[in-house]
Amino acid sequence: MGQEEIQYEYYSVISLDDLIPGERVFIDVDDMAVVIFNIAGDVYAIEDRCTHDDGPLGEGEIEGFEIICPRHGARFDVRNGRALTLPASEPTRYFPVRIVDNQIEIGVPVE
Ligand code: FES
Repeated sequence: MGQEEIQYEYYSVISLDDLIPGERVFIDVDDMAVVIFNIAGDVYAIEDRCTHDDGPLGEGEIEGFEIICPRHGARFDVRNGRALTLPASEPTRYFPVRIVDNQIEIGVPVE
């Protein structure tokens, strides 16, 4: 009961045509480093930062919907930012994605 709905401000980032399935792109959104993935046609966005020790999470290998931090191997779910394995225990930020007129838009919570 009474949970406030999060409000997002959407930023148009790149054309969907520029992010083919299997690719990723790094982008700054509202002063945050964000990595955007196209996984089998669906687009996901998380912060490019591992919550264990600030590792460059976005450079990690993808397995299914999991990304593996290249620094110490923690896994995160790109769909929701959840930390799945140690040494990370805190989620990384994730951002809702919408496609408008073939443009990828990333939602950043309004503070
Ligand atoms: S910095 Fe990512 S697992 Fe340590």
